[in-house]
Amino acid sequence: MLSATFLALATLAAASPITPRQSGNAPFTWGKAYSLVVNVTDISTDFQSNPVHGLKVVGVHAGAGLNSPTVTFNPESHGDVFFNSLTDHTVRLSGGTPSLPPIGVKLYDNNPSAGNPPFLHELGFNFGNGTWGFGASAGPLNPRPCPQLWAPLEGTFVVCDRGIEAPTYPRFAVQFVEGQANSGTHKWYQPEPHVPANCVAVKLVPKCATPSENDGKSSNGDVEAENVQCYPDVGAIQWAEYSECW
Ligand SMILES: *[C@@H]1O[C@H](CO)[C@@H](O)[C@H](O)[C@H]1NC(C)=O
Ligand SMILES: *[C@@H]1O[C@H](CO)[C@@H](O)[C@H](O)[C@H]1NC(C)=O
Repeated sequence: MLSATFLALATLAAASPITPRQSGNAPFTWGKAYSLVVNVTDISTDFQSNPVHGLKVVGVHAGAGLNSPTVTFNPESHGDVFFNSLTDHTVRLSGGTPSLPPIGVKLYDNNPSAGNPPFLHELGFNFGNGTWGFGASAGPLNPRPCPQLWAPLEGTFVVCDRGIEAPTYPRFAVQFVEGQANSGTHKWYQPEPHVPANCVAVKLVPKCATPSENDGKSSNGDVEAENVQCYPDVGAIQWAEYSECW
């Protein structure tokens, strides 16, 4: 009787939801295509009335072969799908048409005449190879234990609330802000000082997706899709159970 009670208590204790923060990192696998999930590392900075944490990145049609990166508030949306080009270190949209140019992820120069604050760079998913230096994974180019999208410059991705919504001008723009605070090891959670007040700093976390058989084929020439680290289900990760990404 006593031992039965003891056993029951021991079982209860083993099933306790209080899990200590482990030393490992959230488990990821490898794949040749991924969607991008917005991760607000400092959740207190997220937009109060339109939180973007956990939303997926999509491009909104902004002209022929031009797409303006934003987030989708539609929980049914799977988000846009991307792949890394191993051949030229670009990131491109998956599922293109072999007889057309690829749609590459582009980073534009800071443009004060377009009203951009200092250090802010607009992004586009536009006809062309994409800007050299985008990629996703952890590894030599991203010496941190957590996979993420990285950019050709040091700094952070941001989601900015531009206040107005138009058919080709999404209100919440995924953009990039230059800075050094996030660089190097053990700096994953450092705030970047140049992030404008209407923007929130985010990591773009790769979620494994199904590649298209057309990936890498285009009228610009063929490239090889890279195998990259991705999480099977970003939304299911309990970050607090794992060691920090630093
Ligand atoms: C995602 O954000 C949470 C806080 O909201 C943080 O604990 C976790 O480390 C972040 N993960 C990545 C990969 O940035
Ligand atoms: C685009 O990429 C292809 C394949 O790497 C390359 O042959 C071509 O020269 C590139 N075009 C431009 C404009 O960089």
